[in-house]
Amino acid sequence: MTPAEDTMNAVNAKRWEDGATHWAATADERYPARHAFWDLFTTELVGGFGRRIRILELGSGPGFLAQRILRAGVASTYTLVDISPAMHGLARARLSDQADKLVFVTANYGLPGWNEGLGPFDAIVSLQAVHEVRQKERVGPLYAALRRRMTSGGLALICDRYLTPEHPGDTEMHMTRAEHEAALVQGGFGDVRLLHAAAELAMFRGVA
Ligand SMILES: C[S@@+](CC[C@H](N)C(=O)[O-])C[C@H]1O[C@@H](n2cnc3c(N)ncnc32)[C@H](O)[C@@H]1O
Repeated sequence: MTPAEDTMNAVNAKRWEDGATHWAATADERYPARHAFWDLFTTELVGGFGRRIRILELGSGPGFLAQRILRAGVASTYTLVDISPAMHGLARARLSDQADKLVFVTANYGLPGWNEGLGPFDAIVSLQAVHEVRQKERVGPLYAALRRRMTSGGLALICDRYLTPEHPGDTEMHMTRAEHEAALVQGGFGDVRLLHAAAELAMFRGVA
């Protein structure tokens, strides 16, 4: 990592540490399209496995997605990865009734080797967090690192902002549909496809 990248990571970490409470209070209102995806995560996980599985969530934030998935009863363990201890604090409070299943990992998934020693996982999930590596070229290698910690046949379910003419964004960190699918393929996932898109969000599925 170059010194400039190092600084950028530190800035990103501080931004989320300071902004955790604000995100938790405003995300659903600012991004109403999020609601369209909650059920899709649980439907795919319940239908895809039919048994309890080991799940990792990338950029878990205040635990909104974890709460939905844990309520569905599909997780044997649920590992929450986030750079921000403040976000983990909010998630820990939100998920206190499921504490026996939770593993909290404070890590920067923009750094090489961040997931060594973790896993294996049957599924990885993420909502509005993958672009936080800030440079889209890093997403394929991030998926490859995740793929190495997954069981064969496992599922990746990733929902993130994507670029369309109606919803332009930052082309350095946000991807088009084709770019996101290519990143999953680069990461070693097969049967990659778009599951659903709504407003600025799109959800992809890949098989490990
Ligand atoms: C936009 S928020 C989304 C949070 C949650 N997934 C949700 O939908 O409510 C992005 C999350 O990613 C975390 N994050 C940002 N950059 C990260 C990094 N490099 N490594 C780990 N977590 C990161 C932030 O702390 C924050 O919790």
